[in-house]
Amino acid sequence: MNTELNILDRTLTLYRFPKQAQETLQAWDAGDEYLINHIEEMDLAEQCNILILNDNFGALSCWFSDKHQVSMMSDSHIAHNGALKNLQRNNCNRINFLKSTDDFPSDVDLVLFKLPKNNRMLAWQLYQLRTKIKQDVQVIAVNKAKEIHSSTLKLFEKYLGKTTTSLAWKKHRLVFSSADHCLGALVNPITKWNVDDEDIQLKNLPNVYSGDSLDLGARFMLKHIPQGPELQHIVDLGCGNGVLSVKAGQLNPQASITCVDESFMAVESAKQNLADNLGEERQIQVIANNCLDNFKQDSTDLVLCNPPFHQGLAITDHIAWQMFCDAKRVLNTGGQLIVIGNRHLSYDVKLARLFGKTNVKELATNNKFVILQATK
Ligand SMILES: C[S@@+](CC[C@H](N)C(=O)[O-])C[C@H]1O[C@@H](n2cnc3c(N)ncnc32)[C@H](O)[C@@H]1O
Repeated sequence: MNTELNILDRTLTLYRFPKQAQETLQAWDAGDEYLINHIEEMDLAEQCNILILNDNFGALSCWFSDKHQVSMMSDSHIAHNGALKNLQRNNCNRINFLKSTDDFPSDVDLVLFKLPKNNRMLAWQLYQLRTKIKQDVQVIAVNKAKEIHSSTLKLFEKYLGKTTTSLAWKKHRLVFSSADHCLGALVNPITKWNVDDEDIQLKNLPNVYSGDSLDLGARFMLKHIPQGPELQHIVDLGCGNGVLSVKAGQLNPQASITCVDESFMAVESAKQNLADNLGEERQIQVIANNCLDNFKQDSTDLVLCNPPFHQGLAITDHIAWQMFCDAKRVLNTGGQLIVIGNRHLSYDVKLARLFGKTNVKELATNNKFVILQATK
């Protein structure tokens, strides 16, 4: 796997985060290279204020921090950590880290924008740009050409202003725009809905997983969350909007709850949803983290987990594996990890390897999902 990004006689050494011994995925993509090459050809004056949206593992931030003042804004705790490590690794200048839930900066000369996967997040970020940056500030976005649809460009035109695109290079395309459209309707970042057959109402910021409707796996899992006085501390690992911990909290009023997600918008949404549905007085902690890094071992009675099977656009099961390993470490003896997954993902094999075959039980199954219980 290539870890050296070489452009114009300059080399950066870049790794994904967390760094893995047998990594197969690269820390940057051809879109990063396209943007870098394009900006270098623009002959930009030095010390510009560059806002970089959704940089993955810091390739763009590392590159442009050399001659410019960089603010990197991302929804991902992992992207922040990956960028920080890569900046240190390459002795780069400091940059300003912003969470997706922070205010957009207004003192910006150029915006570099890796397009997010979902259109609600795209509309929100475009709207924020429109309200914050000056008219003459160029916004240059990049994505795989096949992901730039006419609906994507319509969102640019609707929320930002006049928009054009480049030719494709290595299957990627650039999108050029600036904030010259008159400010249209206000965009509300929150979608709100009730969970069918449950006393749960959820508010979802734009980049929250399954923020428009309940995930089918989560729906099935809601019916199989344990209840019992022995459950004093429950962890919701990869909490998203917090739906599983809201239900766990309703069933287990004695329990303290810790929600963990790597998305800052998920963390903010879950915080709000647990407070709204369980009350402010409950013992609740919601944190942005990579799985259960730095959690105390033997400190939890139950871990609930609906794991992700991709990181960004890359399909991978390494996060699920880390989640299972971490869950085992933080569980008390006798504690349980409850996992839901698509049947074809074979999480039972992974869990049996970790917990021992006799300690893994199938709790429920339907035509799409299986719910597994692993006991430490
Ligand atoms: C399949 S979603 C489940 C969300 C929610 N629990 C549900 O059931 O609807 C997986 C969640 O894991 C989060 N996630 C991905 N990688 C993570 C990591 N390394 N550490 C913590 N959370 C992570 C994602 O942001 C996402 O919210």
